Amino acid sequence: MRVMSVAIGIVCMALSIVSEVSADQGDAVQGKVAYTQYCASCHGNTGKGDGPAAASLSPKPRDLTDKDYMATLEDSYLTDIINKGGAAVGKSALMPPWSAVLKKEDLQNVIAYIRGLGH
Ligand code: HEC
Repeated sequence: MRVMSVAIGIVCMALSIVSEVSADQGDAVQGKVAYTQYCASCHGNTGKGDGPAAASLSPKPRDLTDKDYMATLEDSYLTDIINKGGAAVGKSALMPPWSAVLKKEDLQNVIAYIRGLGH
């Protein structure tokens, strides 16, 4: 019986990990494709916030390659702002919502890509 409950415990843990959106599960290579298509115009090809459309933005997107800054942002926050847009999290409405465009998998991939930008 003991072995059984340990096994159930492990399955539950695995399930709870899978249900969370986390950068660890995303595929950064796929994420780069979506990022380049949807995000680079504002955030810049390298994530520094210097895309062609950023010139007219105020505030401008922050530098996503700044590892110390990015470390302060939770995955749940990144998920929210990307899904629901800046206005939904008290940031600029010029950051559009992407939930209609990015599937959950795409979102994980994009977050994994963004997380990997800082050096
Ligand atoms: C039309 C321009 C535009 C596009 C396209 C855009 N963003 Fe943004 N994004 C912004 C702006 C402006 C901000 C800054 C909001 C603020 O600081 O108030 C922002 C902020 C963010 C932030 C929060 C960073 C922080 O400092 O808190 C993330 C993460 C982000 N964008 C991801 C994305 C992703 C991923 C995509 C593509 C799916 C994307 N953005 C597409 C304009 C854009």
